[in-house]
Amino acid sequence: MEMSNSEFMELGSQLVLPLFEGSDKPPNNSLAGLSRSQRNHVREALVSGDFYGKKGKRMTLWTPGCNIILVGMGEKESLGHKRARNTGARLIAAMSKKKGLDVTVRFTTGWSAKRMIDFAEGMMLRDYEFLEHQEAPEDHIGEAWSIAFQASTRHQEALSAGLATAHSVVGGVHLARNLGNEPANVLYPMEYARRAEEWAKGKGNVKVEVYDWDKLQELGMGGHINVGKGSERKPCMVLFTLNPDADEGTQRPCIVGKGITFDTGGISIKPSSGMWDMKYDMCGAATVFGLMEALHATNYEGRVDGIACLAENMPGSGAYRPGDVFKTYSGKTVEVFSTDAEGRNVLADGLWKAGEFDPEYIVDLATLTGAIVVALGNQITGMWSNDEGISKRLKKAANSSGEPVWRMPLNAQFRKYMTDSAFADIRNGSIGGRAGSSNSAASFLEFFVPKRGFDEDAEKIPWVHLDIAGTAWGPGSKARSEGVNPLFQYGVSGVHVRTLHRLITE
Ligand code: BES
Ligand code: MN
Ligand code: ZN
Repeated sequence: MEMSNSEFMELGSQLVLPLFEGSDKPPNNSLAGLSRSQRNHVREALVSGDFYGKKGKRMTLWTPGCNIILVGMGEKESLGHKRARNTGARLIAAMSKKKGLDVTVRFTTGWSAKRMIDFAEGMMLRDYEFLEHQEAPEDHIGEAWSIAFQASTRHQEALSAGLATAHSVVGGVHLARNLGNEPANVLYPMEYARRAEEWAKGKGNVKVEVYDWDKLQELGMGGHINVGKGSERKPCMVLFTLNPDADEGTQRPCIVGKGITFDTGGISIKPSSGMWDMKYDMCGAATVFGLMEALHATNYEGRVDGIACLAENMPGSGAYRPGDVFKTYSGKTVEVFSTDAEGRNVLADGLWKAGEFDPEYIVDLATLTGAIVVALGNQITGMWSNDEGISKRLKKAANSSGEPVWRMPLNAQFRKYMTDSAFADIRNGSIGGRAGSSNSAASFLEFFVPKRGFDEDAEKIPWVHLDIAGTAWGPGSKARSEGVNPLFQYGVSGVHVRTLHRLITE
């Protein structure tokens, strides 16, 4: 999507007028450049009362030379970021490129620059498709939309800055979606690494380092090695650093992502019905990559580290098995309860590695448990944290981004359920079985969050765990009653690229 902003000037071949409830006549400037008969057409439509600017209502008026779309925004007073963003998304989903790619969106009375940007962000987020591996349908128009956002003089400055930021951040969201939507035969661990290295090429302020199979052995990253050794496609860890030379001596964020490029369950194999979407089991790592792109594209100047923990979880004669005991990068040992609880095994190495950056805080993202989908559904991410400050900040950033999170418990019971293994320091499954299994998974991760400076007497590094198993993909709804997420149509959502960008930059 190409974008520009200006005052009320030229008209494209489609005109969008987002209007508030009670609109029975056209606001000032909204009809600039239209012919007298086109103006009358709009006036009559507004007087008819059929439209009235009601929330969710849309009316299209075909006129010679310009397709005019009236978009109902509902009450002006209660317009928040969410309604603005979702309405923009639903609008672009309903628009046809056949009626012209050059679109004018006019924000008139009652619009703040903030809400204009939310509306535009919704349009950009939804304007996505993934046609990598298929012939586009015959009537498909590949050319990009060109959208001119028009508003009064006083909004221009905020509008151009806000649109540019939103555009760059959405680029990161779309990158995360592209990675997530790739099938597992195309995007395997070392292919993710190759794409990361390619992305870094020519960018002076980013560093990408890859720990390949040999390096994992050398470092003793047993989580990666054990999960990945059943596959011909070997595991790896990818380390991103944005602005490596900035903030010397300052603690900075580190973001860790689960990147299981396919999760068969391994020897504890999954039933075939639940397996198809396990190509999405690398969405945590996709968000890390997308976030790096978003931060880079918005010219963020602080240092940020990202760690992607990549492996393919396959059964086979070389695979790890239930009952195995292995040593993680931390030196702590894990008893394998289920080879299907693989995400936490790779994250054990990733979280420990994160401690070496002496980060201000660690956020990990993982499609970790089926149980969180049962608990919170497809619109809310589960959040666990050992720190009030960072969890509150993250929750706020998530809410403002329309990517809500819900805090879940860490407590002694769940810790005990994991650490009472008779054969190792910790077990990767809970003795409590399915009861609270998202919480016990979080307790497992907590066990691998390092103390600051790896000093026994120090406090643990502030840490947030996000279980995105319910929010990373899907149309977001299986029933009529649960609203479909309008920000994406199918496949991967790219969830929390925007949340983390906001957390880090605002
Ligand atoms: N990737 C899955 C979790 C998952 C399941 C995400 C369904 C999205 C939809 C994860 O690796 C897994 O298999 N978790 C197990 C844990 C259990 C073996 C302790 C689960 O949730 O059943
Ligand atoms: Mn699994
Ligand atoms: Zn998994």
